[in-house]
Amino acid sequence: MSETTQHQAETLERPRRGVVSFVRRSPRMNSSQHHAMDTLAGEFLIEVPRGQLSTSVRTGTHIDLARAFGRRAPLIVEIGSGVGDSLVAMAGARPEHNVLAFEVYAAAIASTLGKLARAGVRNVRLVAADGTEGLRELIGTGTLRELWTFFPDPWPKKRHLKRRLVQPAFAALVADRLEDGGCWRLATDWADYAEQMRAVCEATPGLVNDEPARPGGWAARPDRPMTRFERRGLDAGRVVRDLRYRRLPRQ
Ligand SMILES: C[S@@+](CC[C@H](N)C(=O)[O-])C[C@H]1O[C@@H](n2cnc3c(N)ncnc32)[C@H](O)[C@@H]1O
Repeated sequence: MSETTQHQAETLERPRRGVVSFVRRSPRMNSSQHHAMDTLAGEFLIEVPRGQLSTSVRTGTHIDLARAFGRRAPLIVEIGSGVGDSLVAMAGARPEHNVLAFEVYAAAIASTLGKLARAGVRNVRLVAADGTEGLRELIGTGTLRELWTFFPDPWPKKRHLKRRLVQPAFAALVADRLEDGGCWRLATDWADYAEQMRAVCEATPGLVNDEPARPGGWAARPDRPMTRFERRGLDAGRVVRDLRYRRLPRQ
């Protein structure tokens, strides 16, 4: 086995049980969100077969992404797109890419649909499911140009740390799915989570810091717009850190 250890390879394919990185919220939506869902889901939302949970993706699911997007193009995935502010702006600035977003919160997905339509952004598809499972089941090895995980839920309490998205097994999965030279962009306003992200990425075979010469190895801010979560962090006096890790060529 090349740079991936046996343990990591097993972890890549093992279904996660119980621990998820998101908060379960009410499925209720307001009337404009209902309207967006009714009128726009057909264009932007990809339905997937479910596993044990309503947010899971059934093991072995295959979707034809070229068909879902109506074309072949380099693929970007966002996990945890929230109400879509980064997604709509950044996908809109990359019309030559297909951008697949995973979000579990129905009301946030509905808001995103409305924003996509208003902005005239057509190169996005959404899956209402756990992005960890989506990445594992729907995305092939070495097929991903970029992954975006901006402001993942911070889970600051010690007893909740295991719920953080960026963990060694997840990073091994990301390294496997990225194409050679592909990159993983991350951002957080929680200092210890930023340190955790950096430590996890540094320890993941196949990933290398793309901006190592910058102070602390933190990346320059990409073309992310300011989101509600970033604003909240800044208002609370926290420092926002971006990271960018690149997939080394496979041997
Ligand atoms: C703190 S919000 C940040 C949203 C957005 N990235 C932003 O910067 O505004 C985190 C979002 O990630 C979603 N989320 C967390 N874990 C997820 C997962 N495993 N799959 C899909 N969505 C997830 C949550 O539902 C929530 O909407």
